Amino acid sequence: MLQTSHAVAADNVVDAEFVKAVIHGLAQPQKTLPCRYFYDARGSDIFELITELPEYYLTRSEAALLEENASAIMGQLTPDQVIVELGAGSSRKMDTLLRLAPNGVTFVPIDVSRHALTEARTRLAAKFPGLVVRPVVDDFSTLDAFPADLRHRKKLGFFLGSTIGNLDPKHASDMLRSWRRTLGGNAELVIGVDLLKDETTLVRAYNDAAGITAQFNLNILARINREITPAFHLPSFEHRAVFNADKSRIEMHLVSKVSQVVRICGQTFSFTAGESIHTENSYKHSSSAFRTIVEEAGWRIGRMWTDGLFSLYHLA
Ligand code: SAH
Ligand code: AVI
Repeated sequence: MLQTSHAVAADNVVDAEFVKAVIHGLAQPQKTLPCRYFYDARGSDIFELITELPEYYLTRSEAALLEENASAIMGQLTPDQVIVELGAGSSRKMDTLLRLAPNGVTFVPIDVSRHALTEARTRLAAKFPGLVVRPVVDDFSTLDAFPADLRHRKKLGFFLGSTIGNLDPKHASDMLRSWRRTLGGNAELVIGVDLLKDETTLVRAYNDAAGITAQFNLNILARINREITPAFHLPSFEHRAVFNADKSRIEMHLVSKVSQVVRICGQTFSFTAGESIHTENSYKHSSSAFRTIVEEAGWRIGRMWTDGLFSLYHLA
C-alpha cells in the first residue's frame, strides 16, 4: 500500500476537495482551476510525453545538470539519511543520483499522483534493489502525511522540474519556509528553477507543434467529466499559453470558443465566447529574483549550477 494523506481521495471515489476547488475556481471573476488537478493518471502520463518534446527544454537541461553534478550533490550522503523528492512524478531524473546512494538509504517520493508513484515504485525497486522506497501520496504544500518515523533523520530534499515556478513568489517562499520545519533545520534541498529568457523560447515550450501541451491542459476538463460529472464539451475549449512579462510567467488558459453554460453539482457557470479558465502559471525567475525567494524563506544558497536556460540550486 502507498501511504496516503487523509486529504487525498483513493482512486474511484469522488474527491470532495476536488469538487470544492472546481466550484470555487469557476465562480471567480477570472475563472481558474488549481494546476495540481492536472495530474490524474492520464495527466501524469501526458506530462511524461511533454518531457520528451523538442520544445520543452526544461527536462533535458535539468537532467544534464543533475548528471554533471551528481557527485557534488550526493557525495556527503550517509546510509542513515533520507532522500525526499517533492512532486516526484516518475522520479526518472533521480536515477542518475540514486545510483550513487549508499545501500540501505531510504527514498521518499511524494506526489498527489498515486499513479505516478505506483509506476515509480515498481521501476525503482527493479533498478535499485538496495534502496528502501517509501512513496507517499500527499500535497507538498502541507506534507501532512510525512512518515513520523523518519522525521528525525537528516534529509536531502529534491524539488525538481521547476515545479516551484507553478507557485507565485510569495507562496513559493512560504512553502520553502514551512519545509525547513518539516524537513528539519539540518536538511539540504536541491531545487530546479527555469530561468527567465526570450519570449519565443518560453512560449514554444508551452505551445508545442504536436499539441501535447494542449492535451495536458484540456485533460483537467476531461478529469472533471470523468470524476465529477460530464459537464464540459471539450471541442468547445482551446489551449492558450501566453507570456505575461509584467509577472514574469507563462500562463496557461482554456478558452471557450463559444458562449455556453456549464452545470456542475447544481451550479451553473456561464462563459462568453473568448472567456478563459486560467489553469496554470509557470514563473520564470532571474537568479536575483530566486535568491530573494530563498532568503525570505530562511534558506541559504550553497551552490548554483546553470546551462544558461535552467538552473539547479543546492540550499542549506
Ligand atoms: N519532478 C518531476 C515531475 C514534475 S511535474 C519532474 O521534474 O519531471 C509536477 C509533479 O508535481 C507532478 O507529478 C504532480 O503530480 C506533482 N504535484 C503537483 N502539485 C502537487 C502538490 N500540491 N502536491 C504534491 N505533488 C504535486
Ligand atoms: C510541472 N511544471 C513545472 C510544468 C511547467 O513547466 O510549468 C508543468 C507543465 N505545464 C505545461 N507544460 C508543462
